[in-house]
Amino acid sequence: MTVDGGAPDFPHGGEALVGGMVNAGAVFRQGSLVDRPAPRTAPALHAHLRALRRHGFDGAPLPVGRTADGRERLTFVPGDVALPPFPPWALTDSALASVGSLLRDLHAASAALPVDPCVDWPRDLADPEGGPLLCHNDVCPDNVVFRDGHATAFIDFDLAAPGRPVWDVAMAARYWIPMLDPESAAALYPGGALDAPRRLRVLADSYGLSAQERAELPEVIEQTTAICRDFVAARVAEGDSVYRRVLAERGGWTRWDRIQTWLTTHRATFTAALLC
Ligand SMILES: Nc1ncnc2c1ncn2[C@@H]1O[C@H](COP(=O)(O)OP(=O)(O)O)[C@@H](O)[C@H]1O
Ligand SMILES: [Mg+2]
Repeated sequence: MTVDGGAPDFPHGGEALVGGMVNAGAVFRQGSLVDRPAPRTAPALHAHLRALRRHGFDGAPLPVGRTADGRERLTFVPGDVALPPFPPWALTDSALASVGSLLRDLHAASAALPVDPCVDWPRDLADPEGGPLLCHNDVCPDNVVFRDGHATAFIDFDLAAPGRPVWDVAMAARYWIPMLDPESAAALYPGGALDAPRRLRVLADSYGLSAQERAELPEVIEQTTAICRDFVAARVAEGDSVYRRVLAERGGWTRWDRIQTWLTTHRATFTAALLC
C-alpha cells in the first residue's frame, strides 16, 4: 500500500535490477516503475526530485510513492547503465563530457533550491566542508543512465547531502576518468590505458569548472577517495558480505593505499592539465 499516493503494489517478483552494491538484490522493476528500499531521507529527497523537475531538470527519476514496509517507488529511466567490465562506449570522451554537462545541469537546478537544514542528510559520502547545494555524491557508472552514448539521467540519490559543487565533480572524476593508478584502472577498465590528466580536463571543461575550482580539484579528489575508503571500511566492519567480497576481489586495502599514493604523486600533473 502506498502511503503518499502513486501506483498500486507490485510484488517483489518484478525484474531484479543489478548494478548497485548497497541495495544489491533489493531493487526491482515492473514496467515503468522501480521499487527499492527507501533511504532514511526519502520524504525530503522526493520533494527535492520533484522540485528539480519543476526547475527544468529532467535527468532524474520522479518519485511515485512510498510503501508502509519502507520501500519507495520511482519512475524507471529507460536506457543503458554501464557495468564492469565497462563497454567501450562508456569510456569515450563524449560519454565523459556528457556526464560533466549533466552534472552541471543538475547543479544549476539544485542551486536554485533551498537545502532543508532540518533534514539529517547522510554524512557517508558528504563534503566535510558542507556547501550551498544538495550534491548527488555518488555519480558512479551504475548510477548514470545513458541513451545513444550520452548521459541522460542520474539515479540513486540516497547519499545526497549538502556540499560544494567541486565535491560532486571530484566524486564523478574518481569513477569516470577514472582517478585510479594504472594497475587498478586496468583491472576495472580493460579497454586500454586512459589518459587521466587529459580526461580530467575534458570533465572540467564539459562541467564548466571555474579556475578556482580547477585549482582545488586534485586535492578534493584525494579527499573524496579517503571518504570512499572510510565508507567501504564501515561496511566491511559491519560484516556486509557484498563489500567484503568486492574488497577482497579487487586487492584489499593495498589497492586503496596505491590509489592514494598515485593521486598525491601526480597532483601537480593534474593541476597543470586543468589550468594550462
Ligand atoms: N529509476 C531507475 N531507472 C533506471 N534504472 C534504475 C533505476 N533505479 C535503479 N536502476 C537500475 O538498478 C540498479 C541498482 O539500483 P540502485 O537503486 O542504484 O541500487 P543501489 O542502491 O544498490 O546502488 C542501477 O544500477 C540501475 O541499473
Ligand atoms: Mg546505485
